[in-house]
Amino acid sequence: MLFLLMLACASQTPDTGPCAQPTVTWDSFGQSFLITHCQGCHASTSPQRYGAPEGISFDTQEQSAELQSSIERTVLDQESMPPAGGLNDDERELLAQWLACGI
Ligand code: HEC
Repeated sequence: MLFLLMLACASQTPDTGPCAQPTVTWDSFGQSFLITHCQGCHASTSPQRYGAPEGISFDTQEQSAELQSSIERTVLDQESMPPAGGLNDDERELLAQWLACGI
């Protein structure tokens, strides 16, 4: 019983929780996802932003992390970004994992 209790507690600690060793990271997923689906309009160097707001650029991991909740809201909740849609279920699932643990 005590052992189970210890196990339960251990799983709460950052070292062993679900986000302990994220496999979906900026390097493995985030950066290429944003380049492929977002940076056409949301890179600070984009020649044609199609009206994407100045403050919303995903050039760096830091910028993207600051916009974490906006990415989640627009892509996963409202499905307003990217404007033309086109994400498949795998990409949405990986994005959710990255936003939860890897960003
Ligand atoms: C074809 C151009 C284009 C692409 C590609 C695009 N966006 Fe946008 N985005 C816009 C425009 C235009 C706006 C401003 C109008 C609006 O908010 O709908 C905007 C606004 C936003 C905003 C701010 C609006 C808000 O409600 O907070 C966020 C965040 C955002 N985009 C995220 C993304 C993400 C993440 C992707 C990639 C998955 C993406 N966008 C892809 C054009 C684009």
